[in-house]
Amino acid sequence: MALWGGRFEENVAEATQEFGASLPIDRHLYRQDIAGSKAHAAMLAAQGIIDARDADAISAGLDGIQADIDAGRFAFDINDEDIHMAVEGELTRRIGPAGGRLHTGRSRNDQVATDTRLAAKALARGLMEGDLALRRALVSAARDAGDAILPGMTHLQHAQPVLFAHHLLAYAWMLARDFTRLRAAFDAADASPLGAAALAGTTYPLDRQMTADALGFSRVIENSLDAVSDRDFLLDLEYACSVMAVHLSRLSEEIVLWSSQEFGFITLSDAYSTGSSIMPQKKNPDFAELIRGKTGRVVGDLVQLLVTCKGLPLAYNKDLQEDKAGALDAAETLERCLAVMRGMVSTWTVNAGRMRQVMHKGHLAATDVADYLAKRGMPFREAHAVVGHLVLEAEQAGCDISELPIETFHAASDLFGDDVVGAFDLDAIVAARTTRGGTAPTAVAEQMSLVEAGIAADGDALAGLSPVVEMGEGTRSVL
Ligand code: ARG
Repeated sequence: MALWGGRFEENVAEATQEFGASLPIDRHLYRQDIAGSKAHAAMLAAQGIIDARDADAISAGLDGIQADIDAGRFAFDINDEDIHMAVEGELTRRIGPAGGRLHTGRSRNDQVATDTRLAAKALARGLMEGDLALRRALVSAARDAGDAILPGMTHLQHAQPVLFAHHLLAYAWMLARDFTRLRAAFDAADASPLGAAALAGTTYPLDRQMTADALGFSRVIENSLDAVSDRDFLLDLEYACSVMAVHLSRLSEEIVLWSSQEFGFITLSDAYSTGSSIMPQKKNPDFAELIRGKTGRVVGDLVQLLVTCKGLPLAYNKDLQEDKAGALDAAETLERCLAVMRGMVSTWTVNAGRMRQVMHKGHLAATDVADYLAKRGMPFREAHAVVGHLVLEAEQAGCDISELPIETFHAASDLFGDDVVGAFDLDAIVAARTTRGGTAPTAVAEQMSLVEAGIAADGDALAGLSPVVEMGEGTRSVL
């Protein structure tokens, strides 16, 4: 009979036992569950609610259970339903009746909310570390890229040349925003529901601040109904994961394109490529594709929880048991994606020569030729039309605008001097875009310092976060 079996005459049907169990998922939270129980027991003793000796026995018993799970020696039994009852049941088997005092003034409803918040903090923190590591890799790839330029694109059509470093730093900025979102998710989780009990608080003189402090929570949740039914912090985490996954997916798509024969801008290292079982020549960007593919899964996890929470009355409902699988899945999936992306970015070879080679197509200098006329007095709109016509002529002649004879320019406008060829120089085009945030090497150097300052500041922020209870290694990955 289950721990709650007092008012029942029969066990649940075997099929519903398994259906109702959350142990396969929440056993990953064993360290959080044990930390929560130890804090609760110590507080019960400090408040004179249970005997100090019982609290000591509970604490020692829980340590023993944790050591066994850490070492992979603990045999989980699905009949225990969830991690809370698995741990409490085993505790009582080990230390006797004192174990039965642990659940005084507590419900699984505040217990599971506590465990899940502690886990969310650990997961968010781990992802923040992964975010910083990838940002550092992008900065060093940007440095290594030196003055390599590639055709900047809009609509996937050649637009204007940009520094490859500038392009990579755009992703560093996305990751900087992802860090902010993860930090917000961490803060959302960083509040203690423990002491809310089932939904209404309890008649025991609990010290909620004491358990919050012991568990490293920055604050106490002030409404017991909200404490047991709020899962916003998981939504925040999964949203942060989803946006970050979308960023990694966009970069993955670029990697897939860049490493194709058509582009050839980068060559992935062998360690981050795969071959084909039939085509001997193939070197595929599988891992970039897989990151792109896993993004759907992470976004799906977010949508699942949003839909689960929709329409739930207060307070706890069993639907909420469906909250953890997606959150753990999203965080672990993303953590792996971050590590693989970092490896890919750190080991690819940049083919700067090939990038230059393709820039003779697509009239990348057209804007600068129009600017040449505008700077000599022609209204820009008119200059746009003149250059548009030159582009048409070049297209008809099957060449790039920069390859048209100088006479063609003279014929198009009196304002064209022989020095218009200066407007075709791709490096000069890049170097002239000195606007703050622009692609000129001088502007990019300044931008790079800002990215690095952001990484340093976020590293400090990480060090200043409230303590976390790390996820245990004693259970297999959820993936
Ligand atoms: N396994 C449950 C969950 O994950 C724990 C809370 C159960 N509470 C209850 N009253 N059935 O949500």
